[in-house]
Amino acid sequence: MLEFSADEEIHLLDPGAGIGLLTAAVAQYAETSCGHRTIAATCYELESAFQADLHETLAGLRNVVATVEPTDFIEHTVRLLCAGEKPNYTHAILNPPYKKINTNSVHRFLMRKLGLETSNLYTCFLACTIALCKPGAQIVGIVPRSFMNGLYFKPFRYWLLDRVAITHLHVFDRRDQAFSDDKVLQENIILRMIVGGKQGEVAVSTSSDPSLADLRQRQCSFFELVTPGDEECFIHVPTLGSQAHHGLPGFALREIGIDVCTGPVVDFRLREHLRMQSEAGTVPLLYASHFASGQIEWPKEGRKPNAIVRNAETEKWLMPRGCYVILRRLSAKEEKRRIVAYLLDEGSLPEASVGFENHLNVIHRNRQGLPVAVARGLVAYLNSQAVDDYFRTFSGHTQVNATDLRRLRYPSLEQLEQALP
Ligand SMILES: C[S@@+](CC[C@H](N)C(=O)[O-])C[C@H]1O[C@@H](n2cnc3c(N)ncnc32)[C@H](O)[C@@H]1O
Repeated sequence: MLEFSADEEIHLLDPGAGIGLLTAAVAQYAETSCGHRTIAATCYELESAFQADLHETLAGLRNVVATVEPTDFIEHTVRLLCAGEKPNYTHAILNPPYKKINTNSVHRFLMRKLGLETSNLYTCFLACTIALCKPGAQIVGIVPRSFMNGLYFKPFRYWLLDRVAITHLHVFDRRDQAFSDDKVLQENIILRMIVGGKQGEVAVSTSSDPSLADLRQRQCSFFELVTPGDEECFIHVPTLGSQAHHGLPGFALREIGIDVCTGPVVDFRLREHLRMQSEAGTVPLLYASHFASGQIEWPKEGRKPNAIVRNAETEKWLMPRGCYVILRRLSAKEEKRRIVAYLLDEGSLPEASVGFENHLNVIHRNRQGLPVAVARGLVAYLNSQAVDDYFRTFSGHTQVNATDLRRLRYPSLEQLEQALP
C-alpha cells in the first residue's frame, strides 16, 4: 500500500518494530518497485529480547540505513514534540501493540499533551505516528477495528479524521483466520492514510485471510464510511456487493417508545443475595449463560446462580415480570451471527420480578415488559440477515452494546406487532 515517488527521500518510521519484518518488507518492495532506493528507517522497539534479531534483520537490508530506538515510542515521541522536533517521516508502517491503558497511566497522561484522550496502546501508537509524519506522508497500519465504533474511541476518531485522509481500508472478513496464531479475537483492518490529505474516495477491500487470494475491492464515497452529521463519527466498513451500507430504514428505538439497558444486577456487588437455586423469597436471576444456542434455559445447572433474594437492598436492581427481548452483550462462541435476540416470555417467570445480570442487554418499555406481539416482532427483526449485515458494517467485534442497539433502525410498532401471525 505504500507508494514511493521518484525523487523524494524516504524516511520510514516503524514503531513497535519487533524483529523488523515490516521494515524488511518495505525495503524489499522499494527495491523491486522503484529500483535501488535507499531508505532511512527508524525502528522503535522496547523489548530487549528482540534487539539482537532486529539489528540482524536491519543489517541484512542493503538499501536501508537504520536507526534503532530501544525505547518507549510514546514517551520518546512526546518528548521530541515537546522539545520542538519537526515532523520528518515521509512513510510509516506499523503493527502496534494492543493493550488497554487506564486513566492514570503514564501513556494516557502523555497523550493528553498531544490533545488526545484515548484508552488503548494502539491508538496512542497511531496518534504518535501521525504526529511525527510530514504533511503528505503515507501511513499504513494494521490495527483492531475497535476504534471505528464505540463510545470510548470517539475522541480518537475526531482527532484522527481531523489530521489524516483515509485512502484505503482493508478488512479481513474472518477473524478466526487472519490472526489465529496470536489469539486475536478482534477483527483487524489495514488502514492507509495520508497525513494532512484531503479526504476523497476510499478504496475498500476485503479478503478472508492474509493470503489475499479472494481479494475484492471497490471505490467508496467517504460518506459510506462516515455518515454526514453523525455525532458519534462512527466509521463503517461498507460491505462489498451487498446493500447493507445503505443502512436500515425505519425508526430509532426511542422513537417507537422502546429502550434498551444493560442488565442492572452487577453480581459481585450483590454477592450475599445470590442463590444457586430458587428458594422462598427469591426471584429468577438470568445470566448470559441462560441464553445460549438459541434457547433460554432457566434454571440451569452450572457455575452461575439462578436466583436472587428479593429484599430492600436488591429491589432497585430488579425489573417487573414481563415480556422482554434479551441479547447477550458478548455473543456465544457457537453463534454465527453477531446479534442473537431471545424472547423472554412473561409465562416463563414464576415470580413478580426478575433480575438481569450485567452481561445482558434488556429491551424494555419504561423499565417494564413489552407487549408480546411487539417483542416477538422485535426478535424476528433483530435475528434477520439484514440486521446482522448492517451491524457488521460498523462493529468488528463480538460485543453488542446498548448504544449499538439504539443506533439500529427499527420497523414501526404496527409493523412489529403484525410481523408474526
Ligand atoms: C504487535 S508487535 C509487532 C511487531 C512487528 N512490527 C511485526 O509486525 O512483526 C508490537 C511490538 O511493539 C513493541 N512495543 C510494545 N510497547 C512498546 C512501546 N511502548 N514502545 C516501543 N515498542 C513497544 C512490542 O515489544 C512488540 O514487538
